[in-house]
Amino acid sequence: MRLEASLAIAVALAATLAASGACGGSLSISVPDGQADASADGRPAAAWPEHVYPANSCAPGGDGSYVAQAYPTLDAYCMVSLVKGQPTYGAGIVPYDLNTPLFSDYAAKRRAVYVPPGKTAKYSATEVFDFPVGSVLIKSFGFPDDARKPAPVMRWIETRLLVRVADGWKAYAYLWDDAQTVATYNPGGGALQVSWIDGAGTKNEHGYLQPSQTQCQQCHEDTGKVTPIGPKARNLNRDYAYDGAKENQLAHWAKAKILDGAPADPTTVPALAVWDDAAHFSVEQRARAYLEVNCAHCHDADGSASTSGLFMWASEKDPLHYGVCKEPLSAGGGVGARTWDVVPGDPDASILWFRMASTQPGLAMPQISRDVVDKEAVALIREWITALPKAACNK
Ligand code: HEC
Ligand code: HEC
Repeated sequence: MRLEASLAIAVALAATLAASGACGGSLSISVPDGQADASADGRPAAAWPEHVYPANSCAPGGDGSYVAQAYPTLDAYCMVSLVKGQPTYGAGIVPYDLNTPLFSDYAAKRRAVYVPPGKTAKYSATEVFDFPVGSVLIKSFGFPDDARKPAPVMRWIETRLLVRVADGWKAYAYLWDDAQTVATYNPGGGALQVSWIDGAGTKNEHGYLQPSQTQCQQCHEDTGKVTPIGPKARNLNRDYAYDGAKENQLAHWAKAKILDGAPADPTTVPALAVWDDAAHFSVEQRARAYLEVNCAHCHDADGSASTSGLFMWASEKDPLHYGVCKEPLSAGGGVGARTWDVVPGDPDASILWFRMASTQPGLAMPQISRDVVDKEAVALIREWITALPKAACNK
């Protein structure tokens, strides 16, 4: 099992670790020169003319002014902070997990949702839930010092927010400092270096690409506007250990009165496959779930890759749409003699597999926010293509 899943249990035990001082470990993060346009107090100078903080005491939601602009530092939202090395949330904020996540250079992730008191998100069976103004979705990215430890020391790199404003969503990113005490608004993104030891004891040193604010929209796009991606019934339909007590997430959201209209019985709601759970899902289900969460937000009729004609929702029934014997409309450079996105039975001849296994600019897919190859997923997609009923693709 990969990092994200195995860590879920391990880091829950990390409460014994010191909050900040213990975060040295073998992990080093460096921000390239010129990335942070810092003023004397270390905060980016141009991003905000004046520092605006909520007028009242620190309660999630504050005076609501967070819907108008990004705060200079994450603490001002009173929503998430690092306590004993773990993202810890303000009152009423509900942590959640997904059946199948986005791959982000092997980072471990934590997610949570805030819905203003007295309001609810509206359930949808197929689309992202409709969140009320003032809602905030919170996602933190980090690496363990050594994933073999029962309670690895986490080095959190960034926390991303999606904030629901009157006419849509705003996407903001915050970069954690080395001391793990302050996260500063960082709209420019950047390339970082991470070093960590995985569950097999291998030391990994590689890049981590923090997307810029303009790149957020390339993935979080629905007909030209920013939109959340994860909070859909099928990807949320799973159990989560709330303070040790397991409960279905959809049932919990309804009980917490942040979700309205969900079916009373979550077993009647479809669930997306868990991409790395071979015990419960077929290769086909896992491959299609992975492609949905990692590709379909761009590769669908309303996404930024709509013109590719390659549509990767797991529910897509037409094999041609998800690439089988499909000639690319824009193949990127250097696909060699490969002619089709997916050639049944032949991953080496399949452009889709080849571009996932690449890190070359202009070729790699996804083309942003990925510095290293997702080896386990590339193996899964290989297995899936190999097992597709053999058929000759014809021009
Ligand atoms: C390469 C595509 C990609 C880029 C770039 C990207 N995201 Fe996301 N993001 C996703 C996907 C896919 C999910 C849902 C799956 C998950 O959470 O693992 C997600 C989830 C989130 C979530 C949790 C709520 C949700 O929509 O599921 C937040 C908050 C978020 N992203 C913020 C941002 C911000 C802010 C940026 C830019 C700094 C950004 N993202 C850039 C693909 C991307
Ligand atoms: C951030 C948006 C984005 C994400 C995420 C993304 N793609 Fe793409 N993809 C594009 C764009 C834009 C094009 C067209 C330009 C090009 O070919 O480089 C494209 C083209 C392609 C093509 C050529 C397709 C054709 O038929 O024209 C393949 C194959 C492909 N992507 C595979 C993938 C796979 C597999 C994933 C997920 C693992 C993925 N992409 C994720 C934006 C994205």
